[in-house]
Amino acid sequence: MTAQHHDRLLIIDFGSQVTQLIARRLRELNVYCEIHPYQTVTDAFLVGFAPRAIIFSGGPDSVTRAGSPRPPKSAFSLGVPILGICYGQQVMMHELGGLVESGDGTAEFGRAFVTPTDRKSHLLDGWFETGREQVWMSHGDHVSRVAPGFEVYGTSPGAPFAITADPDRNFFAVQFHPEVHHTPKGSKLYENFVRLAGFKGDWTMGAYRDEAIAKIRAQVGTAKVICGLSGGVDSSVAAVLIHEAIGDQLTCVFVDHGLLREGEASEVVSMFRDHYNIPLVHADEADLFIDALAGVSDPEIKRKTIGRLFIDVFQKHAAEVGGAEFLAQGTLYPDVIESVSFSGGPSVTIKSHHNVGGLPEKMGLKLVEPLRELFKDEVRALGRELGLPAHFIGRHPFPGPGLAIRCPGEVSREKLAILRRADAVYLDQIRRHGLYDEIWQAFAVILPVRTVGVMGDGRSYDFACALRAVTSVDGMTADYYPFCHDFLGETATRIINEVPGINRVTYDVTSKPPGTIEWE
Ligand code: XMP
Repeated sequence: MTAQHHDRLLIIDFGSQVTQLIARRLRELNVYCEIHPYQTVTDAFLVGFAPRAIIFSGGPDSVTRAGSPRPPKSAFSLGVPILGICYGQQVMMHELGGLVESGDGTAEFGRAFVTPTDRKSHLLDGWFETGREQVWMSHGDHVSRVAPGFEVYGTSPGAPFAITADPDRNFFAVQFHPEVHHTPKGSKLYENFVRLAGFKGDWTMGAYRDEAIAKIRAQVGTAKVICGLSGGVDSSVAAVLIHEAIGDQLTCVFVDHGLLREGEASEVVSMFRDHYNIPLVHADEADLFIDALAGVSDPEIKRKTIGRLFIDVFQKHAAEVGGAEFLAQGTLYPDVIESVSFSGGPSVTIKSHHNVGGLPEKMGLKLVEPLRELFKDEVRALGRELGLPAHFIGRHPFPGPGLAIRCPGEVSREKLAILRRADAVYLDQIRRHGLYDEIWQAFAVILPVRTVGVMGDGRSYDFACALRAVTSVDGMTADYYPFCHDFLGETATRIINEVPGINRVTYDVTSKPPGTIEWE
């Protein structure tokens, strides 16, 4: 496995909402880490994983409750540094002979300030240079007596044991969350921890690329691989990487469902065929999809219809390629974590996200997933390593069901054509104003209402459209983008003038939650 050439850090997940952010902070330090739910971390697992250091994440439970999550006891005797965070601190104290209590009004949620004691630790290099430090707290229980061997290095009003350490064993435990942005110097704390643990910081994209190529060659041998290409960054990077590893043993199948944006299909096809010379099947199946969507206005039925057809079409064209043993997918690390997460993934289905799930079993294919270890921005970095054009790598995410879910109500060819134009004008505006890279995602939505307007001397009765633009780190939460009014006014004028069929433009100022990014 690629990562075995590197020192590995193990994050034991006790169910915090922000465990993934710990991994982010470590990857930013070029440290290879993996998150594993506490239930799967057995003594044998620890021996096999051979971590150079361990982090215990936060979590929602209380160590005072019988049956609450625990790490394996052997974690403490591996002789490697351990950092406990929030619940991770409490469980460490509890397991090593300290005392954790609930209640008595010491719960803290939100911003707090930690002041140093007179003890010094290299964990805190760069901290407390100007006195206290801001941290983010989120705890009901608190440590009321540290375990033998531990000392206190920082305190806050609600957490007298905010920073604790046993310097002899290199065990560190903090009550706050250094991984969130609200702890401004949190990254420094992780940097100090991995330095103390002896990590070399050699998890770079250049190294990743070479190792991933060797791994793909070893896995695939001389077999054929097919890759479903959506035109998005993930599957494109996966395809280019695999092509670099095995050349024309790879064939890409690009399913054009007629729900793409203006110019998208030709851009993808020309990039893959002309620029990279990668064998590509362009399955133009627009009629099939649009006809199947006729009369469908329920968002979930739309998504399921598209997902089902996508699989059928992909399967048909993949069969034409013939003899493939492997299916390549652009699965990312957050998808992997989600499917094994502590909480078992989202408890409620908000939307059926469409991917090619279920295909490998149905087609008897083995999977090649060279991006399984990466986060989105790492995939972009890998794309740059592979020489993909910058404008392509920086493209906003686009959902699998495409424009269908930006067309609330029934989808029709007429509405799609209007939406495509409005979306193109809107994105052109964003690019012209130099805002594209500041925005996570921006798009137009065609509303299922017609409104009355006055164009020249005449009456118009056309569709209204909504514009959406959000900032986000990972798509899980989002804020609407605060365009200035001049920009919005200019864009509305351009859309109404340049897009026949639209006579009214609105701007969506809903954040996520409570909204979602897409309208359906
Ligand atoms: P929501 O609308 O759930 O979207 O806030 C979060 C992010 O996911 C994208 N999205 C999808 N991506 N298949 C995808 O590949 C889908 O079915 C899908 N639905 C939403 C959305 O564009 C946003 O970036």
